[in-house]
Amino acid sequence: MNKVFKVGLIGCGHIAETYFRAHKYFNNFKIIKCADINNHASKKCAKTYGIKALSVNDLLNDSEVEIILNLTIPKAHYIVAKKSLLNNKHVYSEKPMAINTKDGLELLKLARRKKLYIGNAPDTFLGGGNQKAKELVEKKIIGKINLGNAIFAFPGVQSYHPNPEPWFAKKEGGPVIDMGPYYLTALVNLLGPAKEVSGSLMKGVKKRTIGIGPRKGKKFKVECPTTYLSTIVFENGAIIRLTLSFDVIAHNRNHIELYGNKGSLIVPDPNMFGGSTFTCKKIGEKWKEYKTNKMPLGKINIRTQSARANESPTNANYRGVGLAEMAYCIENKKLNRCNGELSYHVLDIIQSTMKASKTGKKQKIKSTCNKPNYFSQKEIKKILR
Ligand SMILES: NC(=O)c1ccc[n+]([C@@H]2O[C@H](COP(=O)([O-])OP(=O)(O)OC[C@H]3O[C@@H](n4cnc5c(N)ncnc54)[C@H](O)[C@@H]3O)[C@@H](O)[C@H]2O)c1
Repeated sequence: MNKVFKVGLIGCGHIAETYFRAHKYFNNFKIIKCADINNHASKKCAKTYGIKALSVNDLLNDSEVEIILNLTIPKAHYIVAKKSLLNNKHVYSEKPMAINTKDGLELLKLARRKKLYIGNAPDTFLGGGNQKAKELVEKKIIGKINLGNAIFAFPGVQSYHPNPEPWFAKKEGGPVIDMGPYYLTALVNLLGPAKEVSGSLMKGVKKRTIGIGPRKGKKFKVECPTTYLSTIVFENGAIIRLTLSFDVIAHNRNHIELYGNKGSLIVPDPNMFGGSTFTCKKIGEKWKEYKTNKMPLGKINIRTQSARANESPTNANYRGVGLAEMAYCIENKKLNRCNGELSYHVLDIIQSTMKASKTGKKQKIKSTCNKPNYFSQKEIKKILR
């Protein structure tokens, strides 16, 4: 039996519900208390889930809490994670780790110095879909991967998020910070670390309109570029073209395609846990489908179409597995897969992509990390209910 870690949640917004749902799937953590700078949000969350609401400082100082689950907005991830570590708590944050590498590196060093665990979403790469793709890549089914294409492009969150401004804010806004973590983590999981990036950007419309919630109809200013087209060179030599955009009404491309010297492979949505992987080894041949809906973290548990274009109507969502895997690693003194080195490297690629696109100059990626190990069925079963 695993130890059940006591988790304190900071940031009781939109995504919190998904993490409470994770109690249904995983056996080794329990969110026992919550806090938010907005008292109304923490009280509502506490009432909904039958837990206690505290002030942020009281939660950080609470002697019962062992891990802080940081679900605040991106620009608050750094300060909340830093305070958690300073208060001797392990911390697991939503993506990205921070909004710049300076803050990310400080967190990484602080966690090392304090001998505490630091973990970050995304954990979607641990899902059946992306793990099946990893298995096929590592078995060299498509040979040596030389090239690839990846895309996330949709009209933006303003239509379905009641507080969309942070996605368009100057320092922490834009599609690379928001969706980059999913795509880049999935690519690093498949190909290993990246070494260089070049890119271009586009600033879309100057104002957007909130489409939902109490402020529906209100216009707000877009303060950042909303489209990035980049080319990333990985340490293993693979070159990947990545499009990240909030300016595309619809498209019909695959999320990630990898091209090797023996064939091609389609990787399912890196923002989700399930989906099929496909391979094709001969021109004109039918693509071979590898279903993942019978894998433990690939089983469909979502049956409602979200407002997001490019997302399948049914899928698997096991967000929280990164937190459960981290808790398991704390107990068993292992390195967690969604670890600080990986999320710092991804943050470095994010920042380098934005700089390369802004300056028009290729950027060397200074950090590196280990490619995460395949997440075996045996390991997954240990943390599943
Ligand atoms: N909404 C989604 O679909 C989704 C999906 C995956 C990941 N995420 C990530 O989850 C994080 C949260 O997203 P969300 O949609 O829940 O945002 P949200 O705006 O709905 O909620 C964030 C909450 O954090 C609180 N907060 C902000 N700064 C704080 C601070 N310094 N201390 C304490 N509380 C603070 C806010 O008051 C708010 O209640 C983001 O990093 C986002 O990228 C969101």
